[in-house]
Amino acid sequence: MQLAVNAGTAAGEAVPERRDRSQDPERSLGRVIACDGSRATIASAVAGAGRLGPDSWTVGRMISINLGRTRIVGLVYEINAADRIWNEAADNVIHIDVELLGEVTEGEGGRSHFQSGISTYPPIGTIAHRIRAGDLALVHDLGDRKGVAIGTLSQDAAIPATICIDDMLARHFALLGTTGVGKSSAVSLLLRRAIVARPRLRVLILDPHNEYASAFPDRALSIDSEGLDLPFWMFRLEEFAEVVFRGRAAFEEEGDILREVVAAARERYRAGGQQNPMRELGSSLLKRPLDMSIGRRAESGGATDMPTPYRIKDVLAIIDELVGLHELRWPRAALRSLKVRIETLHDDPRYQFMFARANMMETMTPVLAQIFRIPHHGRPITVFQLGGLPSEVVDAVASVLARLAFDLAMSSQGTYEILLLCEEAHRYVPADRTLGFLPTRQAIARIAKEGRKYGAYLGVVTQRPGELDPTILSQCSTIFAMRLANDVDQQIIRAAISDASASTLKFLSSVGNREAIAFGQGVATTMRMRFAELAPHELPAMDVAVGVEGRREPGLEDMVRRMRG
Ligand SMILES: Nc1ncnc2c1ncn2[C@@H]1O[C@H](COP(=O)(O)OP(=O)(O)OP(=O)(O)O)[C@@H](O)[C@H]1O
Ligand SMILES: [Mg+2]
Repeated sequence: MQLAVNAGTAAGEAVPERRDRSQDPERSLGRVIACDGSRATIASAVAGAGRLGPDSWTVGRMISINLGRTRIVGLVYEINAADRIWNEAADNVIHIDVELLGEVTEGEGGRSHFQSGISTYPPIGTIAHRIRAGDLALVHDLGDRKGVAIGTLSQDAAIPATICIDDMLARHFALLGTTGVGKSSAVSLLLRRAIVARPRLRVLILDPHNEYASAFPDRALSIDSEGLDLPFWMFRLEEFAEVVFRGRAAFEEEGDILREVVAAARERYRAGGQQNPMRELGSSLLKRPLDMSIGRRAESGGATDMPTPYRIKDVLAIIDELVGLHELRWPRAALRSLKVRIETLHDDPRYQFMFARANMMETMTPVLAQIFRIPHHGRPITVFQLGGLPSEVVDAVASVLARLAFDLAMSSQGTYEILLLCEEAHRYVPADRTLGFLPTRQAIARIAKEGRKYGAYLGVVTQRPGELDPTILSQCSTIFAMRLANDVDQQIIRAAISDASASTLKFLSSVGNREAIAFGQGVATTMRMRFAELAPHELPAMDVAVGVEGRREPGLEDMVRRMRG
């Protein structure tokens, strides 16, 4: 093909080329040589010696096709030397394939704006060139929405990458990427921005690797297995049963017995003439009608669903009474087995977070106040270091926390907004429905589906998008896709994001660390960006020596205890 194209010799109609004074006068130009409804091919020429400069045509960059008052914005997804050969001594024609994204239009008074979609297609021969910085900023401009900078654009580090925190939260968000790309660091950055942008927001981080305490030394309360206080009576029956039976009971009757004795113990507590200790928020939670609590009310049976207090000593006494009955209602062996289980748990130091105050009636209020930071005293984030908990109870605890987050947000009637941030979310809401713990899945799904109305938000982080329940991902309307090498994972992003262009997704396998392609409600247009660099004291890290509340370096004894526990 004989097509000589460069700035100096460009032929064809004269399109006024407006430039900023600061712009490189050598900016390389091209001409549109093909166009269909969504893509165009541009021909340009490159000197034989080649050069990599700010103006070079490179994959991943945005370009402009200049139509005068409007400029079509395109994204370069492929470049070829036209003849597939290279001539060192002369200019070489190259073909640049671009995906057309939208148009920058100059409005009245010189104010320009960007709009997705193309209203006027470029005639063959139209001039194309690197996008000017002002237009690039316009492409990602949030307009009337409040933007918060979280980094810079990959293409131009001088332009801030801004997101709308309000939309990102309200419609849930996800951070996906292979291991080590910077997901947890990005989460720390997003959360720091979020709590500043929304002062009423509380954040609960389910932290399976105990890494977030170090990221928020000043803004979070970090609760490890020793500091956690989640009384057993705040567990719903299925949650409690998960802890008691660890997935399997020796006798099939044990589950039914547990249901009965817990209901009876609650009744005994209520009838004991005790003053109802529920106050304030706690009481409004408890007054909610039963059918507003998640899950299978009918199956889990009436009053046991309510997080009202009861005593373990009543539970044990009721089992003894059942054992002593003349006409046995349950096999004695099953009753004894259940009693031993409960006693063992009760005495196990690893379960102190549930039973430390087992026979002392605590109100729900201080427990909720601690977990949900009410008042927050400058620390609106709670980091739950689940790494220190026995693995079989992590699911139950996650379920209780997710359920409380929703219930509290709802009962606060808009006073508190709560974000539940799930690291390793595929553990709690796996794609395979036979895995995971049903009440946790239900509690998280409930936030994803209905949380927005009540100010309960979800953030999910995973390195295995393929193993995450796709219905949860589809509820996340802002997605930060970091590097994803695997084809299956890329397909999942494609399925989750309706407007994700195929060519943008191609970049997922090659974006750098700290880089992300941000899609969806929280951004103006799909944005390839680099998260801002965090200071060392803001980075998540495992096993901090000194963290929140003056945690000290663990001694060998502590470590042995942890290994045992
Ligand atoms: N925004 C950032 N600022 C400074 N350093 C960063 C940033 N993002 C990532 N890093 C560096 O990269 C390392 C890995 O990041 P991070 O732990 O966030 O990755 P990850 O994707 O969460 O990994 P994993 O899958 O193992 O959880 C960090 O320890 C830090 O050194
Ligand atoms: Mg991580």
